[in-house]
Amino acid sequence: MRKTYVIGNWKMNGSLAANKALLAGLKAGVPAAKANVAIAVCPPFVYLPSVVDAVSGSPIGVGSQDVSEYDKGAYTGEVPVAMLKEVGVTYAVIGHSERRSLFGETDEWVAKKTVAALAGGLVPVVCIGELEAEREGGLTEKVLATQLDAVLAAIPNPVPGSIVVAYEPVWAIGTGKTATPEMAQETHAFIRNYLKKGGEAFAQDTAILYGGSVKASNAAGLFAMPDIDGGLVGGASLIVEEFVGIYNAAADQFGKR
Ligand code: PGA
Repeated sequence: MRKTYVIGNWKMNGSLAANKALLAGLKAGVPAAKANVAIAVCPPFVYLPSVVDAVSGSPIGVGSQDVSEYDKGAYTGEVPVAMLKEVGVTYAVIGHSERRSLFGETDEWVAKKTVAALAGGLVPVVCIGELEAEREGGLTEKVLATQLDAVLAAIPNPVPGSIVVAYEPVWAIGTGKTATPEMAQETHAFIRNYLKKGGEAFAQDTAILYGGSVKASNAAGLFAMPDIDGGLVGGASLIVEEFVGIYNAAADQFGKR
């Protein structure tokens, strides 16, 4: 059975004091792991070591919001896999739509980062998703196929369960517009089918997370869908009750599988 995840992407938010309060609340709200649902938070780079310390002994894991494709050397501003591993990071979000649209990350760049993460033992959470105009133009599947092709070409024999895919329709991120569960399911089913390019077991074992305005109030409906294996959560991951509510919805729904 494939793993399921609830991952919080803090984006460029937080402070030492705010993180402390948020993590204390999350630790109290998630005292033990439930139903094969992994939970993690992804703070800005500078907070990673302190967040790893704060969550130690709890079921909460830690991810970075990006990672370099390079190992070390003259790459000002970059952070490689080995440094993230050294400070206790488990996951790396790669190719978030904000990185693609605001910082010019290409599909090939995303693929290289995915390869680096896998080689160094981080779990890549590879983000894909279409713009609103692309969905309206009937291009959703074409866009997702192109984004997935770059990654699949870079990992010719992918190990089942080694990567996590996050489907985040760009028009649903931070907008309050969520894809309906049925709409998201249809796209997730397409993605799962497409992942068969990497083998049947790879397609079946890859967790495909939904992202885009996931909240405690809409999480259960999304997680009830057979090809939605969790959530990548932005805004709501900064609010204890919301993120714990999303985790509990995941544990309820995925416990039924
Ligand atoms: P949101 O962000 O939940 O605030 O829409 C999701 C994301 O960008 O990962």
